Amino acid sequence: MSVLIEQLQQSLDFIRTRCNKQAAIGIILGSGLSNLANQIVVEQEFPYQDIPHFPLSTVEGHTGRLIFGSLGGVPVWVMAGRFHFYEGYSAQQVAYPVRVMGMLGVQTLLLSNAAGGVNPAFQVGDLMIIRDHISLFQVNPLLGKNEDVLGTRFPDMSEPYNKQLIQLVKKLAAANSIQLHEGVYLGVTGPTFETRAEYKLIHVLGGDAVGMSTVQETIAAVHAGMKVFAISVITDLGIREEENTITHEEVLQAAAAAEPKLTLLFTQLVQQLPA
Ligand code: HPA
Repeated sequence: MSVLIEQLQQSLDFIRTRCNKQAAIGIILGSGLSNLANQIVVEQEFPYQDIPHFPLSTVEGHTGRLIFGSLGGVPVWVMAGRFHFYEGYSAQQVAYPVRVMGMLGVQTLLLSNAAGGVNPAFQVGDLMIIRDHISLFQVNPLLGKNEDVLGTRFPDMSEPYNKQLIQLVKKLAAANSIQLHEGVYLGVTGPTFETRAEYKLIHVLGGDAVGMSTVQETIAAVHAGMKVFAISVITDLGIREEENTITHEEVLQAAAAAEPKLTLLFTQLVQQLPA
């Protein structure tokens, strides 16, 4: 058995000896978006540092625990706090918890993130459903020997974000009068925010929003055969002509302000999915 598979098995064993409940839905919460975790009726919590082989989260705004509980009455696994490539983890480490979720039985993965808007129609606080992504800059987590037990060598990426889930969330948003954009997320490594020239380039390349997460997790989830739904909270505007300084605090604040919309959508979404 490869080292990776052995490690995954040990992580799984650790969790499974303490919690043998089943959930088909996994949720990963982005920067400043961990409040959804407060809506969860927690049955079991695992600080990341307790789980063998889990990386540790270091960024402010990330509380760092894997939760089993129910959201709106539906069982879910939730990662409150994620791992980013810019923290110094390898792409494979960033993808690791997604693989653990897959082994725990997760079939649908919901992701949220904070992102910079480069589509001129976007405003701070808007939500954007990720229809597709561009990963020209984030290292692919599947580089290296393929573990056939995890997935195929050359995964198809024609529909990384499940179309049915997108349609469903659009309906839920309309029913709740929540305005949504839909667009392309361009993944960068960070940790610098982009220069003006880079924001412009990202838009020219076909990006509507830019962020430092999500892509590697989505790739690992697609590899594992999961359905993925992802949504960005637009926390800053890269295309602004003047005064384009952006701070992490501003990003966290904007994310927190938009979070109730996201919590409502995720709660209603999980209630429509097979548990
Ligand atoms: N760029 C990259 N990542 C981000 C941004 C941004 O403007 N905002 C939030 N995450």
